[in-house]
Amino acid sequence: MVNNTLCTRQYIDATLIKPSKYLNTDIDEEYYQILRENVRQHNKVLEPVYVTNGLVAVSGMHRIHLCKELNIPLPIENIGEVSPEQEELLVLSHDLKRPLKHSERYRLYEAIRRHHNITPGKRTDLVANGKEYKAIVDKVVGNDKYISRYKFITENAVAAFNGDEAKAAKYLKEIDAETVSVCGAEKYIRAQVKKIVNKKVIPEKVEVITDWVKLLHKDSRLLTIEETGLVDAIVTSPHYGFGRIDYDNDEENVGCEKDVVSFTDAMNPFFKTCWNILKDDGSLWVVIGDCVRDGQYQNAPEHFLLMMLSMGWLVNDKIIWNKIAPQPTSEFNRTICSYEYIYHFTKSRDFVYNRNWINEIPDETITTLGHTETTYHLRSLVDKVKNSIITTNKSSTAAIKKKCEDHGFYCTHNATYPIDIPLYCILASTVPGDTVLDICTGTSVTGEAAVQVGRKFIGCDINNQYIQASKVRLEKYINEQTD
Ligand SMILES: C[S@@+](CC[C@H](N)C(=O)[O-])C[C@H]1O[C@@H](n2cnc3c(N)ncnc32)[C@H](O)[C@@H]1O
Repeated sequence: MVNNTLCTRQYIDATLIKPSKYLNTDIDEEYYQILRENVRQHNKVLEPVYVTNGLVAVSGMHRIHLCKELNIPLPIENIGEVSPEQEELLVLSHDLKRPLKHSERYRLYEAIRRHHNITPGKRTDLVANGKEYKAIVDKVVGNDKYISRYKFITENAVAAFNGDEAKAAKYLKEIDAETVSVCGAEKYIRAQVKKIVNKKVIPEKVEVITDWVKLLHKDSRLLTIEETGLVDAIVTSPHYGFGRIDYDNDEENVGCEKDVVSFTDAMNPFFKTCWNILKDDGSLWVVIGDCVRDGQYQNAPEHFLLMMLSMGWLVNDKIIWNKIAPQPTSEFNRTICSYEYIYHFTKSRDFVYNRNWINEIPDETITTLGHTETTYHLRSLVDKVKNSIITTNKSSTAAIKKKCEDHGFYCTHNATYPIDIPLYCILASTVPGDTVLDICTGTSVTGEAAVQVGRKFIGCDINNQYIQASKVRLEKYINEQTD
């Protein structure tokens, strides 16, 4: 910083002053009028503008403007010769008398970092002026988390707007104006960047056809017997968002309907298709939960069940999937919903039920239940399936997301169920060598359950990214088939 003892005050003609290229030249009308009123009372501008040798102003755009307009002398203090990097620091630190905008805070942070020669990853305690740097950052810039978020936003905004610099700049202005929050903007920019990468990397049509695994990228309502053959079991979980769009798919994405009646109407053609491709002694398992909209439960499972009955499906079992760590809610006038239903539908009373499923479980089968990664084994599932209640740990998408990133694209799918759910359904209603279908396969958790207990799998989804992620999840089994 420049030594203040060099400062000398004098009054000069405001038109002689050149603003620093770092100085914010926007005029805030409200503040300007307050300043004008102040000048009227005292008959002069009291606070000086700081200038470098050469009369470059590093502070006081409003004062300069006012003195020019009113044609009165401008008080200045000369802070001597400064290097360009000092000039930027001075501009920003003089502005600290007012709350800084996000962009200014970030610029200040970067300027301080450069000034103290701090590079990312370098330990500040080992740098000569690292302590001073830390103290200044803590004092003037504050929360580091916001800075790193803002850094991500500025570095990626142009890419997120497909190279449109004007749009990116407009968006950054909105953040400064606080019409968009930093957290919200970071989320948006991150999602956009992922979309753009995915669009480049993931083929428009993704498909896998092997004897054991088929992944079909299409609208499941249009699935035909020619594509799937007759299947032994269908295990699935449609989305039920009611106005909340969770997927990247457009209008074909069933489950985003605004209300429960249109939701059940939309479900009808899916389960007509299921009827046509399920063997007469096969099983259909549907996992479905409810949601609260406008303060009221929508009763989606109940409406859905009645719709299925009207189509001729029989209800063999109704199981409660009890979640150990349910999503907390912000409403305190009801219990936190910690369960979904698993409906077991059949086409006739004469269906395949594998009473021996418990004995069929290989020790190495993966489940989520109460085991560390090295000690998985499915016997624990037996303990959890009691009296129509299956209790599971939370499902996690972290592993599949990481694998997809290793394959060069982003998996944005979040709504998976834990593997225990399809595992139970598959074991109870099929035998090894049978074929299991998921008509809303997402990232194919159903597929992973099926193949690890020796069933064939067909997964169908309308979203190419999810089929690509399914391909990654089932890579090992697909490669075994194609080698
Ligand atoms: C709740 S998710 C299924 C998640 C899956 N069980 C898992 O664990 O990964 C619902 C899926 O239905 C898919 N979907 C929505 N409309 C569809 C349609 N018309 N045809 C096929 N899939 C569709 C969505 O893309 C989404 O992946």
